[in-house]
Amino acid sequence: MKLLVCGGAGFIGSHFARLRAREYDDEVVVLDKLTYAGREENLRDLADAPGFRFVHGAIEDADAVADAVAGCEAIVNFAAETHVDRSISGPEVFLTTQMNGTWTLLEAARERELRYVQVSTDEVYGSIDEGSFTETSPLDPSSPYSATKAGADLLVSSYTHTYGLPTAICRGSNNYGPFQYPEKLIPLMVLNALHGDPLPVYGDGMNVRNWLYVEDFGRAIGTVLERGATGEAYNVGGPGECPNIEVVRRILELTGRDESLIEYVTDRPGHDRRYSLASDKVRTLGWEPRMRFEDGLQRTVDWYRENSWWWEPIRSGEYRAYYERHYGRALRD
Ligand SMILES: NC(=O)c1ccc[n+]([C@@H]2O[C@H](COP(=O)([O-])OP(=O)(O)OC[C@H]3O[C@@H](n4cnc5c(N)ncnc54)[C@H](O)[C@@H]3O)[C@@H](O)[C@H]2O)c1
Repeated sequence: MKLLVCGGAGFIGSHFARLRAREYDDEVVVLDKLTYAGREENLRDLADAPGFRFVHGAIEDADAVADAVAGCEAIVNFAAETHVDRSISGPEVFLTTQMNGTWTLLEAARERELRYVQVSTDEVYGSIDEGSFTETSPLDPSSPYSATKAGADLLVSSYTHTYGLPTAICRGSNNYGPFQYPEKLIPLMVLNALHGDPLPVYGDGMNVRNWLYVEDFGRAIGTVLERGATGEAYNVGGPGECPNIEVVRRILELTGRDESLIEYVTDRPGHDRRYSLASDKVRTLGWEPRMRFEDGLQRTVDWYRENSWWWEPIRSGEYRAYYERHYGRALRD
């Protein structure tokens, strides 16, 4: 299949592009704006994959989309502004990418009658104290990030109801693994621990997330692309439900550091307490997670330890300035 993977230079999109090109022999075209979170380095091993093409452009730019989508049979959209903290300090770009961008892609799919898969998040359901969300749970997002993701999901559904476009939505829980930008919890804590920087933990550290190894999410998205029913959403939850402070403790163990590095910081405004997804529906399509959290975390820590070529330029650039602004302290060199 020839696939347009939007946002494929980011964390999850690059794993998906690799998986589809290497294991499924798909021809992959990546369209990516290369924001601070998008890096061509994430795709460098795909340069020689048959049919691989990279197009530098925004999903809200109809001309760039028309160029990239030529000859493709399906669009899988990962492109998004993805960091909750950044959505609190500067929501505007979240609207542009999530709403205008998704709409532009849907129009391109409609004109060409293409299959369309939207990559979404458990955060659209909001927080849940007990039990798990199913696909029929109401959307109740709490941050500008999750609200714009929910808006995009609704727009996608409307294109099936109104125009009969063959869409599906895949809502993943918190992903982790190699190539994740260090503003997110696990790479933030791993890199700070490796450098001996304090590990900033929000609030009491008891926010619970459902950890999903990035390759497992990529496989689930492929399953939904191939076998998901038109107009349906599929939840994809990981096997590892864990409070943040427990994740941090495990990372300290894996990096040989002690708990004196933990620093509790003022909580994120409106911080959702717990996310949990029921994944029964996607399992009926034949998907199940392969990676246990303990193994995936070990593999992730090892990858960051061994791949300083990847994170060194990040720690000396935009991220360093962002970190100082956000946490009010500098990172070690
Ligand atoms: N990271 C998670 O835990 C998680 C969990 C579930 C769902 N998701 C969803 O998966 C998708 C990918 O997340 P990620 O963690 O890989 O994000 P990421 O921030 O690592 O990557 C996002 C990519 O999108 C690109 N991009 C941003 N705006 C764009 C635009 N306007 N046009 C074209 N490209 C643009 C960026 O350059 C980057 O390459 C997102 O839609 C996110 O909501 C993420």
